[in-house]
This record gives sequence, structure tokens and C-alpha cells, in this order.
Amino acid sequence: MSPPTNSYALHRNYHSSARLNAQNHLWKDALGYSLHPCMGLTADSAPRIADIGTGTGIWMMDVKREYPAAQIDGFDISFAQCPPPEWLPDGVRLRELDLYEPLPAELEGIYDVVHLRLFFVVIRNDDPGPVLRNMLRMLKPGGWLQWSEHNYESWSVQSVGGRETPALDEMMKLMKQTGLGRWVPGLPDLFAQHGMVDVRKALHPCSPHSRVYWSQLQFNSNEEYSYLAMDNSTAEAAGPRLRTLIGQAADECRQGAGFDFTIEVALGRKSVGEV
Ligand SMILES: C[S@@+](CC[C@H](N)C(=O)[O-])C[C@H]1O[C@@H](n2cnc3c(N)ncnc32)[C@H](O)[C@@H]1O
Repeated sequence: MSPPTNSYALHRNYHSSARLNAQNHLWKDALGYSLHPCMGLTADSAPRIADIGTGTGIWMMDVKREYPAAQIDGFDISFAQCPPPEWLPDGVRLRELDLYEPLPAELEGIYDVVHLRLFFVVIRNDDPGPVLRNMLRMLKPGGWLQWSEHNYESWSVQSVGGRETPALDEMMKLMKQTGLGRWVPGLPDLFAQHGMVDVRKALHPCSPHSRVYWSQLQFNSNEEYSYLAMDNSTAEAAGPRLRTLIGQAADECRQGAGFDFTIEVALGRKSVGEV
């Protein structure tokens, strides 16, 4: 089970879109904010915001509701999961952009806030540096970057009354073996190395009641990953093996068990000395 190199390892079909939209709800429930309060935004603020890898665009809808005067640009390499542009709220736009390609000059230094969430299946070679450098180019001096992720190292299996959970345990072992997101805890250091200021990290453990909801979403994304990024060449290969485990883990979940983990939000500002 190895991380993909240059293709998106999840589907963009209606199941995946519903998964992302449900996840947005759980994510916001865990954080308690769309944009961290350290940015000092109020309902009257009119920031220019970039949402990188916007997916279904659902995060932008929350932000637009909270900051009606915000101008929000959603960037992605595909808009297959988004509403048609004609149906987006005023001030919300979509623009195709590959964060691994050189940044178009007209996007340099124009954003007050750049937001990125859940890129851990997208980052190549365990190195978030190239993506970070492009996002920094997009920020105005003094602008905030908010990058939210989780990584499998923080995951554990919890069960009511210490019940045995062999399938969940094995799934978690396989997820950890992918190495996906192992760079996440180092993001604040990387921000500092890139000259960012006011760097901080906010940690948000998932609440006990939400463990089952998160686990159900994880079963969906692991199933997609098993088809797109794992060996499916024989009935015993890693892909079919993971799908069998998912069925068993879902049963364990129904008996009172689930994954537990912590969301990490890395925050920092582009130094005002930088252009
Ligand atoms: C796991 S989804 C997260 C979507 C959204 N940020 C959320 O939290 O709901 C990752 C998104 O990154 C996009 N993506 C993948 N590679 C990209 C790239 N090189 N540049 C920009 N976006 C990319 C995918 O198309 C997908 O929409």
C-alpha cells in the first residue's frame, strides 16, 4: 500500500461528493470555526480568500455565510464535484489551478487568506514544500494561511468496554503503513522555515460521539483508495483485502467502536517584509 505519486487517489462521483460534504460538517463541528479566530475577522470583514483544492466547494459556502462581504475564489484541477458557476453565491468564483504548476502572475500577492484542507492524499514525496511556496506567493504580505489536516499517526481505535476490534485494528495498521500525512505535524516548522510569522498550531480531537460518524466516512474513502491506489490484481491482493476488512470493521463499529484522531490546523502569516 503506497501513496500515489501524481494522480488523485479518490473518486469524484456522487458518493465521494456526499462524503466530502458530510465531512465538512464534522470538520466544522470539531474545530468550531471555519477560519481561526486569530485572524480577527468579523461579520463585516471583506477579505479576499483563496480555497485551494476546493473539492465540492462546500467550505466556501460556510465562509460566505459567515463573512457575506468576502470575495472567495475556489481553486482545483477539477470542478466535477462543484455546483455550476451560475448557482454559486455572489462573490464566490471557481478557477482551475494546479498547485504543482508555476503560479500565474495575476494570482501573486492578492489574497488576505489562503485556506487548504485535506491535501494529504495529494502531497507528493512526503514534501508539502512546493504547495506551500505557491500558496505563499498568492498571499498578500501579512495575509494568513490556514492549513488543516489529520495524519494517521494520531489515530487509534476506541471501543465501548474494551471490546475486541481486530478488523478496525488491522485497518488502522494498513492506513499507518501508507505513510500518508506523516509530514503534517511538521507544518508549523516548515512555515517558520519559509519566513512566516505568528505561526501556531491548533489541535482538535474528535469528540467521542463523532467517532462512529468519522469512521463511516473513513470506510468510504478507504474503499475508494483501495480501488484507485492499491493492488487489485488478485483476489488476495491488498485492495480486496482492505475491502473485506472494511465490511468487518463496519460491523465492529455498529457494536460500539470506532476510530479516534486529532485534526491539526497549522496557521501563520506571510511576513510583511515579503512581496
Ligand atoms: C480530499 S479533497 C478535499 C476537498 C476540500 N478541500 C474539502 O476539504 O472538502 C482534495 C481536493 O484537491 C484537489 N486536487 C488534487 N490535486 C490538486 C492539485 N495539484 N492542485 C489543486 N487541487 C488539487 C482534488 O481535485 C480534490 O478536490
